[in-house]
Amino acid sequence: MPAIKVLPHAEYCPEGALISAPAGTSICEALLDNGIKIEHACDMSCACTTCHVIVREGFASLGEAEEEEEDLLDRAWGLEPQSRLSCQAILAAQDVTIEIPKYTINHAKEDH
Ligand code: FES
Repeated sequence: MPAIKVLPHAEYCPEGALISAPAGTSICEALLDNGIKIEHACDMSCACTTCHVIVREGFASLGEAEEEEEDLLDRAWGLEPQSRLSCQAILAAQDVTIEIPKYTINHAKEDH
């Protein structure tokens, strides 16, 4: 079962976390199943960007992003080349390391 190393995030997981989930699970589902309450405003249907994560290790092992996801990602706060929508990023056999960005698009709208 692939492991997901979650880098510390002040709100969702201040200490960081090491979790695992079966291959075929989306990163978003894996986080939620393990009590890391990442936002997922559209209920994981690839229609928002609140589940944005940056994949620091293991990016290439995830299934490729569809065009729809790429379009949405363009609107994400703190976009990086290794950004993914976690509800669309499906785990393969390899371990990954992810970072949850400090803000989501919702926060960005409210605070900045
Ligand atoms: S939860 Fe909305 S795109 Fe992932």
